[in-house]
Amino acid sequence: MMKELQYPIAAPLLAWFQNARRSLPFRDDPTPYHVWVSEIMLQQTRMTAVLPYYRRFMEELPDVRALAECDPERLNKLWEGLGYYSRARNLQKAAQVICRDYGGEMPRTYKELLKLPGIGAYTAGAIASISMGVPVPAVDGNVLRVFARLYDDEGDILSPETKERCSARVMTHIPPDAAGDFNQALMELGAMVCTPRSPDCGHCPLRDLCLGREARGEGVEALPVKAPKKERTKKTVTVLLLHSPKGWLVTRRPDKGLLAGLWQPLTVERACSEEEMLREAEALGIRAEITAPLPAAKHIFTHVEWHLCGFTAETGTAPDLPEGAAWMDDPEAYSIPSAFAAYRDRML
Ligand code: ADE
Repeated sequence: MMKELQYPIAAPLLAWFQNARRSLPFRDDPTPYHVWVSEIMLQQTRMTAVLPYYRRFMEELPDVRALAECDPERLNKLWEGLGYYSRARNLQKAAQVICRDYGGEMPRTYKELLKLPGIGAYTAGAIASISMGVPVPAVDGNVLRVFARLYDDEGDILSPETKERCSARVMTHIPPDAAGDFNQALMELGAMVCTPRSPDCGHCPLRDLCLGREARGEGVEALPVKAPKKERTKKTVTVLLLHSPKGWLVTRRPDKGLLAGLWQPLTVERACSEEEMLREAEALGIRAEITAPLPAAKHIFTHVEWHLCGFTAETGTAPDLPEGAAWMDDPEAYSIPSAFAAYRDRML
């Protein structure tokens, strides 16, 4: 049975926020454009680092249209040092959509905002609530932490269900006339008081309502729970770098799955002996001889880890190959994925 809070948090939270509220340029003039750009910048970057970027950005690109029309090179320059440049590219893409489809005015509803490139539930919620007063949640890492503690919720912080549950709970507390302040107060509380380590419970306006604190005392710091990452699957992959008078043998990967459709040297995704690899070549009509073993190598994908091994081989003839296999005569014409980086240079 999930614990539910008996009291609303809005009144003590907003009273605290009145005093604790930092003055921030996008907070003091929260137009949709200001809130949008600042929230995107703040997604992977700390407030103190963001502020000078934000000011420079607004001086040069004061509105959606200026952003839409900005030279991409200049935009990269304005973003340089913030990292994650796809954020800037998405900002510009969305600005172009806003100019094309909305006459240069940011859409006014949560649902419409959500359709724009780079705008997810959090950003749409922040823009809609902070600039337009729409009572919708804006759940970022700070808010997830505050609510995990407030409700003594042991759900995995990275799971979609936990986020859903948090959003639903936030929703029940949003005062209809102060949605923006309420959401910002939660973020602020997470950033300044309910910090990941050594939370300052002594100064927390929600201290007497906090179920985590009640149940665990200082042990509340253990929340939120982050489930250990699933270990990556380890896979042995055997490669045959097979050379012929017409170049190196490459084969095309299947159209679906990992590295879909890309060219690679002859590869079998398990541990294979020399004989087995030569039989793979024979299946393509090639008679070859092993010349040397390849050094072991490793490549890490998000969910899989390849442990590569294999052999070099040579054939004196270069028969015509079936569909999906080719002799690589011009290395420029094939892009061999970097999973094969350890062996790729030998084929150039
Ligand atoms: N972090 C990200 N957005 C924020 C906001 N609007 N206020 C405080 N902290 C934030």
